[in-house]
Amino acid sequence: MKYRHAFHAGNFADVHKHVTLVALLLALARKDKGFLFVDTHAGRGAYDLASAAARRGDEAAGGIGRFAPGTPTGEPEVDAWLEAVAAFRQERHARHAYPGSPLLALRFLRPQDRALLVEAEPGEHAELRREFRDLPRVVVEHADGHARAVAAMPPIERRALVLLDPPYEDTRGDFEQAAATAAALLERFATGVIAIWYPVKLERDTTRWIEALAARIAPRPLLAAELWVHPRDSRLGLNGSGMAIVNPPYLLDERMRAWLPLLHRRLAAPGEGGWDVRLRSDAPPTTTPPRR
Ligand SMILES: C[S@@+](CC[C@H](N)C(=O)[O-])C[C@H]1O[C@@H](n2cnc3c(N)ncnc32)[C@H](O)[C@@H]1O
Repeated sequence: MKYRHAFHAGNFADVHKHVTLVALLLALARKDKGFLFVDTHAGRGAYDLASAAARRGDEAAGGIGRFAPGTPTGEPEVDAWLEAVAAFRQERHARHAYPGSPLLALRFLRPQDRALLVEAEPGEHAELRREFRDLPRVVVEHADGHARAVAAMPPIERRALVLLDPPYEDTRGDFEQAAATAAALLERFATGVIAIWYPVKLERDTTRWIEALAARIAPRPLLAAELWVHPRDSRLGLNGSGMAIVNPPYLLDERMRAWLPLLHRRLAAPGEGGWDVRLRSDAPPTTTPPRR
C-alpha cells in the first residue's frame, strides 16, 4: 500500500466528502435513537497541512484553504464543518491542523452513538489508535475495512452510517470492491446508510460504475452527488469528487442542492467545474420526515 492521505488532506475532494459526512451525521442525529458510525478507511485521524507531505502538492490550498474556518457561509452543513475545523485547531493550538473523517465525525457523535474505525496500514493505524485512546464507545481496529464493516452488521442500535473511502490505488479493484461491500452490508442490514467516496475521472467509468451500483443495491435508493473542478472526462487526473449514498436520509438531496453551489463557487476557478445531484429512488425513503 503506497497511498498516504497526508499528501491530499484538506483538498477539494476532502472538503466535498467531509461536508457530506457532516450533513449525514446531522441528518441521523434528528432522531434520538443512537447509531453506529463505521469508517472503513479511517486514515490517521489528524493531518498537519504545514508538513512536508502536505506542502508537496499544496492540495489543501485549493480545498480548505478557500474557506475561513469559523467564518459563516450561511449554509448550515458547511458552517458546521467549518466550526468543527476551527474548534479542532483551537484545541490543538495548531492553525494548520486538519481533522480527517474519524476526528470530524467524533465531534458530531452523541453519547448514545458508537464508532468503529478501521485502518489497514500499520503506521496510519498506530496514529489513529493514539488519537482515540481511552475514548468510550469508539473501537479502533487494524483490519480490512470492508470485511470488518460487514461483520459489524446488523448493529445493536438498528441504525448505521458506513463511510467507505478507499484509496483507489487499484482503481478498478476499489470500485468493484466498494459496490460488493455495499451489497454485502445491505444483505445483513437493509436500512443502513452507506456513503461511498469515488473519484470522478473518465466519464464512462463513472457512469458505468454508478449504473452497476444502482442495479446491485436495488431496490434501495441511491443518491449520487458530484462536484468537479476540472473538465469532466479529461485525463488530467482527479477531475472531481463523488459521493454515492445508499438509503440517503430524507431531504438530503434537497439540502445538497443548497450547499453544493457554494462549494463549487469556492473550489473551482471562475467558469469552470460544476456539480450534480441525482436521486434514483426505486424504493420509498427509509427515513421518515422529521416531526414538526
Ligand atoms: C482516502 S484515505 C482515508 C481518508 C479518511 N477517510 C479521511 O477522510 O480523513 C484511505 C485510507 O485507507 C487505508 N486503506 C487501504 N486499504 C484499506 C483496507 N482494505 N481497509 C482499511 N483501510 C485501508 C489507507 O491506508 C488510507 O489510510
